[in-house]
Amino acid sequence: MLILCLFLLQGLDYPISGTHGAVASSSTLASEVGIEILKKGGNAVDAAVAVGFALAVTHPTAGNLGGGGFAVVRLADGSVQTLDFRETAPEKAHRDMYLDEAGNVIPDLSTKGHLASGVPGSVDGLLKLLENKGSMSRELVLAPAIALAEDGFRLSVALAEDFKDVLNSMSAYPQSMAVFSKHGVPYEAGELFRQADLAATLKRIAKQGRADFYEGKTASLIVAEMERGRGLISATDLKKYASVWREPIVGSYRGHEVYSMPPPSSGGVLLVNMLNMVEPYDVASMGWGSSSVAHLMIEAERRAYADRAQYLGDPDFVDVPSARLTEKSYAAQRFANFDANKVIPSEKISYGTWPIESSETTHYSVIDAAGNAVAITTTLNWGYGNRIVVTGAGFLLNNEMDDFSVKPNTPNSYGLIGRAANEIKPGKRMLSSMTPTIVVKDGKPVLVTGSPGGSTIITTVFQVLLNTIDHKMNVSHAVAAPRFHHQWLPDRVIYETRALNADAVNALTGKGHVGVMLSPWKIGAANSVAFREGRLEAASDPRRDAVGLAY
Ligand code: GLY
Repeated sequence: MLILCLFLLQGLDYPISGTHGAVASSSTLASEVGIEILKKGGNAVDAAVAVGFALAVTHPTAGNLGGGGFAVVRLADGSVQTLDFRETAPEKAHRDMYLDEAGNVIPDLSTKGHLASGVPGSVDGLLKLLENKGSMSRELVLAPAIALAEDGFRLSVALAEDFKDVLNSMSAYPQSMAVFSKHGVPYEAGELFRQADLAATLKRIAKQGRADFYEGKTASLIVAEMERGRGLISATDLKKYASVWREPIVGSYRGHEVYSMPPPSSGGVLLVNMLNMVEPYDVASMGWGSSSVAHLMIEAERRAYADRAQYLGDPDFVDVPSARLTEKSYAAQRFANFDANKVIPSEKISYGTWPIESSETTHYSVIDAAGNAVAITTTLNWGYGNRIVVTGAGFLLNNEMDDFSVKPNTPNSYGLIGRAANEIKPGKRMLSSMTPTIVVKDGKPVLVTGSPGGSTIITTVFQVLLNTIDHKMNVSHAVAAPRFHHQWLPDRVIYETRALNADAVNALTGKGHVGVMLSPWKIGAANSVAFREGRLEAASDPRRDAVGLAY
């Protein structure tokens, strides 16, 4: 009943608010875990780490132990740091590993099966966050996730449907079928879902920390799984894995400071570049949903994503001109040929393909009363990753290798192309679009946001920021408002119902935008928290089956 009331309240366009803390994620159970940790005296980092482990249990499509992600953390003292816990290419990986002898991409090899997995970073990342910026013990923050896995939880209608949808693609992996079905029979909504192997893995992590996952029993189970499926991840790869602290990408937008994720995510660079391109224009008076503001934003997106393909990759392997790309003068130069009345078309090269699978990354945001704020985006890449549960360990592996450019100018499963900057090399991190972001005004974090959605992540965060800052929406409205997306190639605009009305679509087409089409899927899930008028507010995205919580 409480949950139903919360749904109704959030449906009324007002965020859930409080004065002690706020948590927004794609799983109500995980949001509850975050609030529970805050109530026990934990800070936003403790809560975020607990939410991260809980999501691996309650939101297995994207919450994970076998994937990776990025965190942006702003502490109450004003310091901001980011943690890169992106997966790495195994030592045995090489540039052409997904090509046949003729140099053609072998279908599905970078997305399906054991070869699709990068070395997981999530466990190292979450534990490093806790050790460096948290205040609680591993045992305390992992306890709720362990209980959810061991005692189980009742499946929601959405999660039971999700399991039904994914089962077919798991049929080659009996260990995955054993977790996500009852001996091949789908779970029904309301049934108790327990994950004994996952509970045991989480208990080992609580006791032994990273040593278990990267060098102990869990590491052995991962290596055995790889050997069974001719995957590449070795004991050495696991032992060598380390998440990396990186300086944030810093931008400004109409008097707000914007802190976001640097490479190997493209998110922060593109977000700040796009904000810089639109800042000289009066977005607010153009009006939300108007063709003029949509045209402005699409033209900024087109240029930013073209730079992504050329320049962005893992900064430990290639020189990424992040500073240049995020300068206001660069944006002015890049946008000098903007024409309010017509399109400058994307390069005339072949169209990319549309994603054939749903993109399921997940984002969560936490803020506490002291002003500590954490934005974390994490993923297995596709929903349920490569669909392979590590036998005996109970968690899914990622198919993140597809985020590398497996062949120059050849679209990945998000239709994104890349070049040498993002080619495969052993130990290298694949380029991401994840954009965990914290917006600060007058020394206080006022918005903590981010989203799943593959290539659409960056434009989703761009829209949440413009909705908040230019269109003055509260966090619920800013997150719920329908969205559109353009990524340079394919040269098309996709939009959610009501993001653009018929007049706006006609006007955009008249300016020369090609393929302005209704999006076949919901764009993003920008679970966000905000600080407004003295209150902490939480808004989980209504596109997913969850509520944000505050107290
Ligand atoms: N796997 C999606 C991304 O990192 O952008």
